[in-house]
Amino acid sequence: DTALTDLLNSRIKDVPDYPKPGVMFKDIAPLLADAEAFGALTRALADRARELGATKVVGLEARGFVLAAPAAFAAGLGFVPIRKKGKLPGEVFEQSYDLEYGSATLEVQCDAFAPGERVLVVDDVLATGGTIAASLDLVQRTGAQLVGVVVLMELGFLDGRERLATHLGGAPLETLITV
Ligand code: PRP
Ligand code: MG
Repeated sequence: DTALTDLLNSRIKDVPDYPKPGVMFKDIAPLLADAEAFGALTRALADRARELGATKVVGLEARGFVLAAPAAFAAGLGFVPIRKKGKLPGEVFEQSYDLEYGSATLEVQCDAFAPGERVLVVDDVLATGGTIAASLDLVQRTGAQLVGVVVLMELGFLDGRERLATHLGGAPLETLITV
């Protein structure tokens, strides 16, 4: 839908040299602050959740929460968080992934999903793919079925899509904007 893509694109602000020189940061704050654009994005995500037959929408801390939670509500579904290490009580699965310097760890509660649940994973940006790859591995370990991944923005030049191929198990990876 090019009208939606154009609307979303028009509300994302390019910030040069942030967080460091040479990097062009894509700031989604203006999109979130705009009722029309945020509403259109939320409805598009909710529509895909319903079309894919999801029973839960998973958001990735932190910016993924802001997109996934309202989409879950709009679709009439529950929301499940994947969080950075040390934030979730009880038994958790954990998965580490590499950052440019060092590594990070994500967690999901072992009992986050009932048997047979169908999961849509939502995040704001697909860059190297490390965050989503780790998240998909976590979903798989819970025993839930992945029905899709929807990302607002794909940084195509970083080849994250290729990295995710082996983690998707045949589920679709959809992005609303490719940069
Ligand atoms: C950012 C972004 C994505 C991730 C993409 O999250 O929100 O989740 O990086 O990068 P990748 O594809 O290379 O893994 P970040 O962990 O920086 O911070 P956040 O808590 O603000 O979402
Ligand atoms: Mg993030």
